[in-house]
Parts: sequence; structure tokens; C-alpha cells
Amino acid sequence: MTNELPDASLKHIARLSVRLWDRYYVPAKLRSDPVYSAVAKELADTELPVLDIGCGLGLLGFYLREAGFKPEITGFDYDTRKISSALRMAERGDYAGLVFLTGDARTGLPEHGGNVVILDILQFFTRVEQGALLQAAAARVAAGGRLVIRSGLEDDSARFRITVAGDWLAKLTLWMKAAPVCYPTRELFESVLGAAGLKVRVGPLWGGTPFNNHLIVAERQL
Ligand SMILES: C[S@@+](CC[C@H](N)C(=O)[O-])C[C@H]1O[C@@H](n2cnc3c(N)ncnc32)[C@H](O)[C@@H]1O
Repeated sequence: MTNELPDASLKHIARLSVRLWDRYYVPAKLRSDPVYSAVAKELADTELPVLDIGCGLGLLGFYLREAGFKPEITGFDYDTRKISSALRMAERGDYAGLVFLTGDARTGLPEHGGNVVILDILQFFTRVEQGALLQAAAARVAAGGRLVIRSGLEDDSARFRITVAGDWLAKLTLWMKAAPVCYPTRELFESVLGAAGLKVRVGPLWGGTPFNNHLIVAERQL
């Protein structure tokens, strides 16, 4: 499996989009956001299925398929418009083993055992909900599997303040349904995921952005 997709693959994913706006948004997002190749790299050596919590339009799933990733991928999101868009895109692209389900991650997750991915949704949860989601996600990581998370981290940096402003802008422009509620700390990941038996590492994933994004990778040893 490759980590970096050629431009032709990004354009192919964009052409599957249902809305005209997404045909411009999707390739720009996939080209500029370092998270998709970072996740592809973390999953390069696994044959376990993936649960993508808060999958949005399902971009990670399409990216991984175009990169040659074969195991089943289940995307889960409470936004019915995004899930029906993802389903149409999967159908148009004739991708096998891509499943998209609607549901609220605060009230339960699909049954799963394998790898789990959570990109950019924890800021919409209270601290208690964050802890519960991390525990539920960790319980779905199989031996040899990984939980891969991208999140802005709460700390005393200027990057953190810019992250909060960016999320509020997304809410005010109606790009996001929800406003940010609470940002996780490094200690939260280390304590909750460590207690669940996972080995945790946390590193910056800033790319070319001013945001305080980090990649958190928690692994269950074989
Ligand atoms: C910033 S978007 C990230 C989309 C996707 N993870 C990506 O990186 O391409 C956050 C997503 O989380 C979803 N989300 C927020 N709260 C959720 C919840 N409680 N349950 C399920 N999905 C949720 C939103 O609908 C949105 O699609």
C-alpha cells in the first residue's frame, strides 16, 4: 500500500462527489491535509478491518482504497446527509468492503474488532464523553491493532487558541453542525488509553496549518 496518492486518484475521488461544492472541496482537502497519508502510514502493515468514527463524507475510506488498502472499512457518523453522500460515492466508485452507518458516537458504537480511527471529532464532546468514547474505541482495538486519532490538544500554546477560533468559525459559517465543547489533553489520552492496555504515542501533526493538531496512536500488542 502507498501512503501518498497521485493527483489522478484524488481527482477520481472528487469526481464521485454528489454535490458540486464537494467536487472542489474534496481534492483540496485531500491534497492539503496531512492526516490521510499519516493514517495510511499507520495502517500500512495491518490486515485488520477499520472503524472510522465521525467519518464525515468517508474521505479516509476512499483514500485508503485508492492507496491499495484491502480490509473492510466501516464509516460511522451522525450526519445523515454526509453518510448518504458517502454511500453514493462508494457505489459510484464501485468500491468493495466500504460500509457507512449512521449513528451518534455518544450513545454507542458499532460492534467491531480491529483498528479504529477518530479524526477531528473529540472537540465536540464533553470531557466525560471523551473519556467514554476513548474507552469504547479502545475496547474495539484487536490484538495487533491500532487506534489512530487526530485531535487539537488543549495546552497553553498560540496554536491552541488558533484551533479554537478555527472551530468556532466552522460553526458560525455552518460548515460544522456543532460548536466545539472541550479539547482533549495529552494526559487524557495517556491515562484512558493506557488504562485500557494500549501503548500510546503522541506527536504533532501540524502540516502547513497554524492549528495545534496532534496524531495519537495507541497500539494493542500481540
Ligand atoms: C471535522 S469532521 C471530520 C470528518 C472526517 N473524520 C475527516 O477527517 O474527513 C467531524 C465529523 O464528526 C461528526 N460527528 C460529530 N459528532 C459526532 C457524534 N456524536 N457521533 C457521530 N459523528 C459525529 C460530524 O458529523 C463530522 O462529520
